[in-house]
Amino acid sequence: MSDGFRLGVFLTIVRPEEKQILQAAEARGITVERLDDERMTFDLERPELPVDVILNRSVSHSRGLYAMRFFAHYGIPTVNTADVIERAGDKVLGSLRLREAGIPTPRTIVALTPEAALIALDQIGYPAVLKPPIGSWGRLMARVHSREEAEQIIEHKVALASPQHSVFYVQEYVPKPDRDLRVFVIGRTVVGAMYRHSSDWRTNAARGAESEAFDPPESVRTLAIRAAEAMGGGILAVDLMEAPSGLVVHEVNPTPEFKSLQAATGLDIADRILDYAAEVARR
Ligand SMILES: Nc1ncnc2c1ncn2[C@@H]1O[C@H](COP(=O)(O)OP(=O)(O)O)[C@@H](O)[C@H]1O
Ligand SMILES: [Mg+2]
Repeated sequence: MSDGFRLGVFLTIVRPEEKQILQAAEARGITVERLDDERMTFDLERPELPVDVILNRSVSHSRGLYAMRFFAHYGIPTVNTADVIERAGDKVLGSLRLREAGIPTPRTIVALTPEAALIALDQIGYPAVLKPPIGSWGRLMARVHSREEAEQIIEHKVALASPQHSVFYVQEYVPKPDRDLRVFVIGRTVVGAMYRHSSDWRTNAARGAESEAFDPPESVRTLAIRAAEAMGGGILAVDLMEAPSGLVVHEVNPTPEFKSLQAATGLDIADRILDYAAEVARR
């Protein structure tokens, strides 16, 4: 059966996730237009683009964000929207949304200069976590144990001097068990969840954490859906940690990978993503 809509997939490379999405689309008779984020250009006038909805799968935050703004400008709905990518893809803006929505989240202080970063780290106290505001896979994050270590890490960031390193996102270190929680939300529904176990304090699947399916109780489902809605809703993977005070949401991912979730749960996430894209195309 054909879903009768034309899907644009804005992507960088075909990872296992994109492969599954493309295969599932083919199986459903959905016409797919692949849009290469490294080659595409954006005219102010709408180009000839035979699609009803765009799915963002770019690995680049800025490319995904600008591109979704252009597609909206052309009158083409996108999954996720540029607003959602802007908020959730930037940890600073994401934390503001979580806080505004009253969702428990680790104590966080943002600093805009290296000098202020040291003050923020002292304010949070040690150990503290320092993250680039935009990034994933646990990359370029540091657990900082002392003022001395803080000074050394900041010195490196100053020497490397890229925009990535000029905003400092400082967070309390949450003494979680050797795992965190990933809850995958589509629209108003939790489609699947898992624990990610690791001996590394960064429990990202991309760093080799082991995934274990998890059937979240109603309270966790509600919390994850609230976090997704705080970003504006769509297809969002909510990351949570078990803090001594209870669950805290530390980030919401707007362009999530789902290979390990799918492997741990046996769920067909790609198919659920297409269901949602079809729904957005019909709106
Ligand atoms: N404040 C923290 N305290 C303890 N562990 C943390 C903290 N923040 C992140 N982590 C660990 O690091 C991982 C990656 O952090 P996250 O904020 O999700 O960044 P990324 O976008 O790179 O995934 C988390 O899944 C968690 O295991
Ligand atoms: Mg994460």
